[in-house]
Amino acid sequence: MNKDRHISLSLAPMAGITDQVFRRLCFEQGCDAATTEMVSAQGFLTAPRDRNAYRFLLARYPEEGPLSVQIFGSDPLYMAQAAARLTDLGLFSAIDINMGCPAQKVVGGQSGSALMKDPALAGEIAARVKAATPLPVTVKMRLGWDDEHKNAVSFARILEQAGIDGLTVHGRTRMQQYAGQADWQAIAEVKKAVSIPVIANGDIVDEKSALKALEITGCDGLAIGRGALGNPWLFARIRAALKGAAYTPPTFSQVVDTAMRQAREMAEWKGRRSALLEMRKHFAWYTAGRRNSAQVRTKINLAASFEEVEALLRTLD
Ligand SMILES: Cc1cc2nc3c(=O)[nH]c(=O)nc-3n(C[C@H](O)[C@H](O)[C@H](O)COP(=O)(O)O)c2cc1C
Repeated sequence: MNKDRHISLSLAPMAGITDQVFRRLCFEQGCDAATTEMVSAQGFLTAPRDRNAYRFLLARYPEEGPLSVQIFGSDPLYMAQAAARLTDLGLFSAIDINMGCPAQKVVGGQSGSALMKDPALAGEIAARVKAATPLPVTVKMRLGWDDEHKNAVSFARILEQAGIDGLTVHGRTRMQQYAGQADWQAIAEVKKAVSIPVIANGDIVDEKSALKALEITGCDGLAIGRGALGNPWLFARIRAALKGAAYTPPTFSQVVDTAMRQAREMAEWKGRRSALLEMRKHFAWYTAGRRNSAQVRTKINLAASFEEVEALLRTLD
């Protein structure tokens, strides 16, 4: 691989996880770009302006790096209108359209990965959104609906023709949800079929999988989701590997410092009570694989203060 070519390393959107606090930690470790959690186009347009869900979903720290806002929906006009209004907020550097979410409540409304079954509608949404905003418009998609309908190549071509500026391809079908292995070879087929940038996604969890995914897909970048949970350092680690440079991982004491910083920042933003609840899953990720971590996690889930949580975390090594 050419070490001088810049490979973009982005944080994949994860609902309930990739908020401004977590994203900032990833940016500090060399993440190049991130995406908000998904936002319902229709919900956003019809919600009163101050509704908490949207206030939190759309919040961004000014010092974060480039941030796309991700919308989902199935009505081209709502999608275009939401894109225009989100553009006007002046917070985002791109609009990303979700054509990959497998959740029943999303595909039931013909949104997310259900759009891969209706390429004509997907193309219309893409074209309308593109026409509604001066920002770059990207799409996050999968390989298709199921094994019998792997239409990623023709689907990507339709999106390119609709004017989309880039694609992120998760190497699974909708029916696979998150199971099995991501098919990087199939992502390579998409990369070969279009001339817009293609970002590979799925199962990139360390520097070895990152280098392998790049070699197989030939993609312009990697989007990392679950591998970054409790591990924002993954970006620095992969960047070092891309440069052929040495990398020193954080000590567990530094990991705890970061976990507690995330907790404090979340508490300042959302209040201590919500932060304590929301941080439980993050504490579990930060401590995964450590000796005695299961017992400590049970105690953390009962803890009433962050001081108590920190004392528990510091008992681990
Ligand atoms: C908890 C969770 C929430 C997710 N939420 C979103 C989302 O809001 N929008 C989206 O496009 N993908 C979402 N995804 C999919 C991820 O962005 C990514 O495509 C998938 O996890 C595969 O990448 P990975 O193997 O690096 O995790 C979510 C995944 C997880 C695990």
